[in-house]
Amino acid sequence: MTPLSAPRTAIIIVAAGSGTRLDGGGPKAFVEIEGRTILRHALEGVSAAQPMQVVVVVPTGFEDVAADELRSALGERVDLGSVVVGGSTRQDSVAAGLAALTDHIGIVLVHDAARALTPAALIDAVAAAVTTDAGVIPALAIVDTLKRVDGDAVIEAVDRSVLAAAQTPQGFPRATLEAAYGRAATSGEEYTDDAALFAAAGGAVRRIPGAERAFKITTPSDLERARMLLSTPSAPRIGVGTDVHAFGGEGNLWLAGLEWPGQQPLSGHSDGDAVAHAMVDALLGAAGLGDIGQHFGTAHPEYAGVHADVFLARTAHLLAEAGFAIGNVSVQFQGNRPRFSARRAEAEGVLSAALGGAPVTVSATTTDGLGFTGRGEGIAVTAVALVIPRG
Ligand code: CTP
Ligand code: MG
Repeated sequence: MTPLSAPRTAIIIVAAGSGTRLDGGGPKAFVEIEGRTILRHALEGVSAAQPMQVVVVVPTGFEDVAADELRSALGERVDLGSVVVGGSTRQDSVAAGLAALTDHIGIVLVHDAARALTPAALIDAVAAAVTTDAGVIPALAIVDTLKRVDGDAVIEAVDRSVLAAAQTPQGFPRATLEAAYGRAATSGEEYTDDAALFAAAGGAVRRIPGAERAFKITTPSDLERARMLLSTPSAPRIGVGTDVHAFGGEGNLWLAGLEWPGQQPLSGHSDGDAVAHAMVDALLGAAGLGDIGQHFGTAHPEYAGVHADVFLARTAHLLAEAGFAIGNVSVQFQGNRPRFSARRAEAEGVLSAALGGAPVTVSATTTDGLGFTGRGEGIAVTAVALVIPRG
């Protein structure tokens, strides 16, 4: 029986080519850009798409390194991944990938590892557009004027409006694709891509819009283009967090990561440190990771009574896992007490250290006797965080 969670879609990533034109000192998929292999970049796109079976096809001898890449990229989806050895042509490599599909797969995407920067959205769009009777390819309009040539002689212009540049992933109904591959194996015919092989067996193929970032890394200048795209920093993101706690209970106040002897504490699930809590919300919000209640709420009793350092270190870890560096956090609290300025530097040092060194600035203000903070009933905090997506 098919497990409920088993995906019906698979993606075969062909990475078994030698990369002759790139001339990168080894198989192309294992050449690095910005510290990661071309294969790994391709897998990052796949892991950000809907869950699907992932079959990576590699040259002999690269099974283990590919398996490591697959594990790192898929994370908790690792069970969906496998590695097989390819053949001497791309078509043979795809055929090796087809042989590794699990029973319940109905839709197969075939993707070049060399299209390393392909966005996850394109992978999902292709998968969604495949029907039981037609394959789908992403294709870009051609912008250059095209000429038919003979040596250095220009013969005529070619109408580009009837042409499109095909990319991958290309998606197909599994049974029809397997039948088409069987037919090609019998005839010995080599096709330029899977859509051509599929069409030669009588299959219909439709196109959807391609993506500029799905270009194929073929030559050293393509590699340079990919390097430039990856090294351009993404826009930083900001987040805001607020928190309010009433004074109440026994013991000492904990605020801004410090204990304040002789000051009445703030009430709350944990130590009531509203400065730390607002910072957590600002950071999670900036990274799009939800809010403090989701990660540290009453459903997580292990956080009852812990101090700012634990919350903030855990938050910094969540952001790092999601690929964000922390730029800085600025916090202000409103309250009549504690008198803050004498311990400002100490508080900023503790909070910054808990975030792994990102700058934290804290200021305090009173509200001219107005509102609950002015009446000394509690503290209100606002925090703003800036985070920077990596690569
Ligand atoms: N491919 C493959 N098995 C082959 C040949 C190619 O899996 N026998 C894969 C490549 O790894 C690549 C994709 O098919 O991801 C597209 O092929 P191409 O860009 O031509 O890569 P290479 O064949 O490696 O490069 P070259 O033609 O320059 O040698
Ligand atoms: Mg090739």
